Amino acid sequence: MTAGNRPSLAEAVREATAVLAAAGVPSPRVDAELLAEHLLGVGLGRLRALMLGDSPAPEGYADLVAERAQRIPLQHITGVAHFRYLELSVGPGVFIPRPETESVVQLVIDRLQGMPHPKVVDLGTGSGAIAGSIAHEVPGAEVYAVEYSEFAHAWAAKNLLPLGVHLVRGDLRDALPEHNGTFDVVVSNPPYIPAEAIPNEPEVALHDPPVALYGGGADGMELPTAAAASAARLLVPGGYFVMEHAEVQSQWIAAMLDRTGLWSEVQTHVDLNGKDRATSAVLAVSDLTTRGLAASKTCDK
Ligand SMILES: C[S@@+](CC[C@H](N)C(=O)[O-])C[C@H]1O[C@@H](n2cnc3c(N)ncnc32)[C@H](O)[C@@H]1O
Repeated sequence: MTAGNRPSLAEAVREATAVLAAAGVPSPRVDAELLAEHLLGVGLGRLRALMLGDSPAPEGYADLVAERAQRIPLQHITGVAHFRYLELSVGPGVFIPRPETESVVQLVIDRLQGMPHPKVVDLGTGSGAIAGSIAHEVPGAEVYAVEYSEFAHAWAAKNLLPLGVHLVRGDLRDALPEHNGTFDVVVSNPPYIPAEAIPNEPEVALHDPPVALYGGGADGMELPTAAAASAARLLVPGGYFVMEHAEVQSQWIAAMLDRTGLWSEVQTHVDLNGKDRATSAVLAVSDLTTRGLAASKTCDK
């Protein structure tokens, strides 16, 4: 206890860790520290220094810990998701960007090396994590982002407009027809969870919007297939398509791309945990009509 009878910061963080662990939060100590950092407006180094002294727990700390113990996502409580170099505003109605997606962005950035003014589109942008990172990290890039949900679109507008991204509210299946055949890169992290595969974690099942999770159809592959068809429509010949997916979907997606006859260099990429996480391909044909016809074939699974 401190002189004012409030628990010390160190005691409060210890107690919060126990409360969060009992609630089944996967990283209780980290979350307890992040909530304290958020309230105090300090980073981890300063927090740890304060915990060595007899600083009191910040006002309202127990309330935030109680919210987190209800399995409300940490990012909804703090209002911020850290993604690569960005601090994105997030909250109810938008998918919380995941660390795995950072490696998908890296694939795009590597591909854009040496291109002076590349044109890129992110299909299903959510908070704008992918589009915003590319706009931030690739000087000279012209970046577009498409989002269907009005709630996610509102969060994306907050995050992307200051970065100069062209944000469009629309369906990735038919968005941006006036830009057909003009993008150097199409990137997407579409919804891809099968209808019956309800996620176990309450943070995901109850707080990520269903429109961001379920890809459509029993295997979840309707929207990923549509994203590939749109990529074939939107890319310049030789343009690069990269799409995130679940570990178990890599073979299906590679086969789906091969079947269209539109793509070369189909390649699976692993994430930082060594799991298949994304597939990329290069558009091998130039005629737009062929692409439209062949692209629609991808939907007859
Ligand atoms: C898995 S989340 C990914 C969000 C973000 N790109 C990221 O990586 O954090 C999929 C996103 O696609 C959006 N979405 C779902 N169906 C869509 C559609 N038909 N057209 C455009 N966006 C769609 C969802 O609202 C959600 O924001």
